[in-house]
Amino acid sequence: MKKTLPFNEQKISEFVDKTKTPFYLYYEEGIKDRIRTLQDAFSWADFKEFFAVKATPNPHILSIVKEEGCGVDCSSMAELCLAERTGFKQEDILFTSNDTPLEEYEKALSLGAILNLDDVGHIEILKDRLYIPELVSIRYNPGGDFGNYIIGNLKESKFGVSKKDLYKGFETLQKYGAKKFGIHIMAVSNELNPQNHIKVAEMMFNLMLEINKTLGIDFDFVDLGGGYGIPYKPDENELDIFYISNEIKKLYEQIILKNGLKPPKIYMEHGRYITGPNGYLITRVLHIKNSYKKYAGIDANSANLLRPAMYKAYHHITVLNKSIENKEAEIYDVVGSLCENNDKLAEDRLLPKLEVGDILIFHDVGAHGHAMGFNYNGKLRSAEYLLTTEQSFKLIRRAETLKDYFATLSFESKD
Ligand SMILES: Cc1ncc(COP(=O)(O)O)c(C=O)c1O
Repeated sequence: MKKTLPFNEQKISEFVDKTKTPFYLYYEEGIKDRIRTLQDAFSWADFKEFFAVKATPNPHILSIVKEEGCGVDCSSMAELCLAERTGFKQEDILFTSNDTPLEEYEKALSLGAILNLDDVGHIEILKDRLYIPELVSIRYNPGGDFGNYIIGNLKESKFGVSKKDLYKGFETLQKYGAKKFGIHIMAVSNELNPQNHIKVAEMMFNLMLEINKTLGIDFDFVDLGGGYGIPYKPDENELDIFYISNEIKKLYEQIILKNGLKPPKIYMEHGRYITGPNGYLITRVLHIKNSYKKYAGIDANSANLLRPAMYKAYHHITVLNKSIENKEAEIYDVVGSLCENNDKLAEDRLLPKLEVGDILIFHDVGAHGHAMGFNYNGKLRSAEYLLTTEQSFKLIRRAETLKDYFATLSFESKD
């Protein structure tokens, strides 16, 4: 898919001239558009998207997804607090945690969130220390050959429960008074093959039928997780979610409706599909270094964008006001200043010949981008801006300062 920018280069150049780089920029209209497309595709079902907060944990982004009718999927105390402070309530919050501290369950229950349990062992803890809510969900891990390169082999995955435990879990929950049930799966991540999403839905519908026959449960919802891929590379294609939805609809009719099950709601919890393509990291070239390779040293590093170092992920780069077609091109490793040799945001990348001061724009960083930031070497997290529907640049998170970095330390005075 051809990589384009949702703003003209003149407009962004003017903004960059007066703004400290690096910074993240999100595109509001694009975020709304992706949500509406997803909702439209699944309009045949009682469908709800619970945006995965971990992808872009910023209240301004969460407010946009809220306005568009989504709930949120939270996985930690901080994410629950973000959801609460953005005004999400009750069953608009799904809590998909793992290795969950008791106080996080306590918080989730106090918000009326739907608990999605990662382990059946947690049922006893909830019963003994808190309580079993009326509606509970369990996360299934089918093992086997599901999974892909990010999520890994599900047999090796720490998430979710086996089929045996799933049965045990629902039986125990029934015994302890739960009345309504959900079932959840997150089997793939950044998956661009539609068949793999359809396969997951088919497996889940068959499983729900099997559980219905054995335990008599009519599920309130099935949560098919997140994981829709986005075309990070220019030669990859956008997922046809209308095709996926149509195939899932046929399976829903054949497996769920024809067998007389009460129609469950369909939930999803995408992050990447919604915000991924609608976020950009804007950086400036500080140095060009020629050693055994040619390096472009920029003012961002892997602490600002971890995905390339962590997953060897590709993020397309646009060089502002330069294109390969009309400039000499060179092959660069684009690197940051961390004391780690995997601090490379692009490797062996053909780019227009670069000069100090050039602006590099990284595409598709709107999900799991800023969010995965860290402070190694005392590097500071960057600001986040939103290009609003009204075409103005709104600061939605200020950049971290050294004062923030040192705020948790105390120094013994030398005088
Ligand atoms: C449980 C769960 N749900 C949803 C997501 C969101 O995934 P994605 O952003 O790939 O859609 C994740 C990602 O880590 C996850 O772990």
